Amino acid sequence: MEAPRAKIKDRLIIALDVPAADKALKLVNLLKGKVGMFKVGSQLFTTAGPQLVREIVSGGDKVFLDLKFHDIPRTVANAALEAVKIGVSMFNLHTMGGMDMMRLTIQETDRYCSTFKVPRPKIVGITVLTSLNQESFKRMGLERSVDEIVIRLSQLALETGLDGVVASPREIRAIREACGEGFIIVTPGIRPSWASADDQRRFATPREAIEAGADYIVIGRPITGSKAPLLSLERVLSELPSLQGGK
Ligand code: C5P
Repeated sequence: MEAPRAKIKDRLIIALDVPAADKALKLVNLLKGKVGMFKVGSQLFTTAGPQLVREIVSGGDKVFLDLKFHDIPRTVANAALEAVKIGVSMFNLHTMGGMDMMRLTIQETDRYCSTFKVPRPKIVGITVLTSLNQESFKRMGLERSVDEIVIRLSQLALETGLDGVVASPREIRAIREACGEGFIIVTPGIRPSWASADDQRRFATPREAIEAGADYIVIGRPITGSKAPLLSLERVLSELPSLQGGK
């Protein structure tokens, strides 16, 4: 049975990689209600700050705060609480920050959300940045393979209680196999066949990523950099396979 269209669009995250709040809000207003979440990353957050996040959230849209927290446990847990307070629906941290850091962050987030009866954001981990490869590992004195570490860190994230990980399209199947259903996989590096690759090297089409098992796909420039973002979004949605429900 064809899944409702709403479920498909809910799995799309738009990367708002723009240098100013007005540009971000223009995109949000244009794509409002048509996608699952808007991703606010380091560039936009550094210039526009929590006020922009509050504005997007108060307009009824969801925000994935992509600040990739990586610090000692108390610092990350405190930053996570601030993310909860501004109303984000998802945020991320580096699994390489260690299990104590992941545990404390989950614990504090759970505690705050149940005390103040606010929705608990999804917490997803970064394993190995896709900008690193085997050669980078070698130079850092790391001998294991990148693929092995990606799986190892995903399993630690699962064991610690994280909701999922951010993973490149080529890592989806192995992570799904290692961590099972129900573990969220968020996948950037998405390029429809008609779009420019930009600086993405190992990318997949939206359909390929969803079929490989991604729960959410993150897509930026093919939509945000398009002359007609709404048409480009419609084109992406029309190319997605019919999905069985949503997560
Ligand atoms: O414009 P584009 O679709 O390439 O945007 C992808 C987004 O996902 C960017 O915000 C980028 O920083 C992020 N990302 C990525 N690859 C990763 C992790 C995050 O492209 N491995």
